[in-house]
Amino acid sequence: MTKFTVNNQPVEYLLDPETPLLWALRDASNLTGTKYGCGTGECGACTVDIDGEAVPSCRVSIAACEGRFVTTIEGLSRDRSHPVQQAFAAMNVVQCGYCIPGMVMAAAALLKRKPMPADADIDAAITNICRCGIYPRLREAIRRAAQAAQGQALVGAPPPGIDPAGAAHAVPALTPRAPGG
Ligand code: FES
Ligand code: FES
Repeated sequence: MTKFTVNNQPVEYLLDPETPLLWALRDASNLTGTKYGCGTGECGACTVDIDGEAVPSCRVSIAACEGRFVTTIEGLSRDRSHPVQQAFAAMNVVQCGYCIPGMVMAAAALLKRKPMPADADIDAAITNICRCGIYPRLREAIRRAAQAAQGQALVGAPPPGIDPAGAAHAVPALTPRAPGG
């Protein structure tokens, strides 16, 4: 039995304590925004926030999360209002989207640690792999998110064709269940 907090909700997993956090999130909690890429800690697709640090969830067991606070892409904001999410949408960063939840989580953790990161900080922190090659727009989006978070700039509206409500569907796994439900 392993107890910790996921997206501000206490959870208790009745799984093998060595189960990678990635699979507990995806298979037991239905939080499928966290993606499986390599399974070896290299691609960053599975990045989540654990106590403020960007961590590849494929490489951490649920036992190692005991008592800690885990945030996934679903818990970063309910309405795509986080500056990194807004900047990614405004800059049209996303191509296929597979790497994006991990990228967003890594960028959000970076901004917590370094509110105005230099390019070198971004390059060092965002080692996530994107097979679509979004890298040129990535830095710019993170810079814009940093400015927006500091109140120095507004993140523009998403490009036409992107419905801001589209990312704010209710996530069943985030809906509190009635006791015994
Ligand atoms: S799936 Fe975890 S780092 Fe690639
Ligand atoms: S947007 Fe396709 S893998 Fe990054």
